[in-house]
Amino acid sequence: TSPNQPYRTGYHFQPPKNWINDPNGVMIYKGIYHLFYQYNPKGAVWGNIVWAHSTSKDLINWIPHDPAIYPSQQSDINGCWSGSATILPGEKPAIFYTGIDPHNRQVQNLAVPKNLSDPYLREWVKSPKNPLMAPDAMNQINTSSFRDPTTAWLGPDKRWRVIIGSKINRKGLAILYRSKDFVHWIKAKHPLHSVKGTGMWECPDFFPVSTYGLNGLDTSDMGPNTKHVLKVSLDDTKHEYYTVGTYSTAKDRYVPDEGSVESDSGLRFDYGKYYASKTFFDGAKNRRVLWGWVNESSSVNDDVKKGWAGIQAIPRKLWLDKSGKHLVQWPVVEIEKLRVNQVQVPSKLLKGGSVIEVTGVTAAQADVEISFDVSDFKKAEKLDPGWTNPQLLCSQKGASVKGALGPFGLLALASKDLKEYTAVFFRIFKGEDNKFVVLMCSDQSRSLQFFSFNISSISHPTSCFQTLFLVLL
Ligand code: FRU
Repeated sequence: TSPNQPYRTGYHFQPPKNWINDPNGVMIYKGIYHLFYQYNPKGAVWGNIVWAHSTSKDLINWIPHDPAIYPSQQSDINGCWSGSATILPGEKPAIFYTGIDPHNRQVQNLAVPKNLSDPYLREWVKSPKNPLMAPDAMNQINTSSFRDPTTAWLGPDKRWRVIIGSKINRKGLAILYRSKDFVHWIKAKHPLHSVKGTGMWECPDFFPVSTYGLNGLDTSDMGPNTKHVLKVSLDDTKHEYYTVGTYSTAKDRYVPDEGSVESDSGLRFDYGKYYASKTFFDGAKNRRVLWGWVNESSSVNDDVKKGWAGIQAIPRKLWLDKSGKHLVQWPVVEIEKLRVNQVQVPSKLLKGGSVIEVTGVTAAQADVEISFDVSDFKKAEKLDPGWTNPQLLCSQKGASVKGALGPFGLLALASKDLKEYTAVFFRIFKGEDNKFVVLMCSDQSRSLQFFSFNISSISHPTSCFQTLFLVLL
């Protein structure tokens, strides 16, 4: 970071300048990670969208390449929008992406590497048969609601499947296509899944998870001991929701275990600014890795002034919780490579009202690991069964609202006099069956700048608010 660019991150992926949005086509190929992303080569606002491309051996240090996919055919002349990569048998990567055609219709296109012996796969060739999927008078697809193909998976019948985000009136849906050869695609009669009242589904993601352990599964893995996850990004609210459920290969339908994707409840990867996320299977480390885009809280004017907008969140490993009811995520271990100048705070007793300054760091760039040992769980308040929305609960019980066990945690980006700070804090409640429930919140009401907090790392530098405190409020 530099004094005239105090908000650039030291931990997250971001290009030197301009607008970025969705991660695209994430994959590992022959030991090299690929990240493509929606990019405007001409400025810090959305537009002129191409697939920018970077590669890495560790998900941390990235080599930038020229844009891999940019408008060049009829079927993508007005933009190359989001999509995904699939590694076909024989170690052959293929990318599906949404093209915007001369009539501004959304269509799906295929591209493959020009030269498989280039370790960076820098050049991509588009199929002369593009578009491979298009809205037409017959198939009742809305031409402006047909985008963001997923990684494809192979069914037991040896046919490939892919889903595409869409809507019919207010019903969000994942349109299903099937193919024997990856080139000729036929729309299934029914979607993989749909939910009324949710509006347009952007950037769907559909993948299997193992019912035990932390290992990831390849996208076509349908064996025993697997469940499936469907995630969608809701265009209306710009929030993402996922469900865990069952995929019936016989019916080619996904059925969520309970509830469904709804616009103000349901499972979330993140309650901060986090959108258009996408996972891939990392065979080198047998894990499933999640990427997601963090957009700016600042105004368009500020973005233009600083010359850039958007970052990619730190990639996270993702697996199914033992309960089988939700996913668990953690920043990829490689992130620890970025830790330098370690500062330790020895164990301390935190009494009510304690504020302990963590010296030796600037909280502008701090990756924090803390463990709290709670002595008196009996004190915990009962969790009201009506409190089902953590985001709402955090906003009702901000950092200044006293509770029985909590709030305790961190005041990040704090001024020395504690007039300004961003609280990242916890509260412990007693839930059903005497199980304890921990609520983790971030309260920006005392922050000079709104910022997004991503698990495990705080990375928003300002020049004057650089102190970190450990607190029991
Ligand atoms: C999601 C999204 C996608 C689209 C892309 C365009 O943020 O709107 O639906 O493909 O961005 O940049």
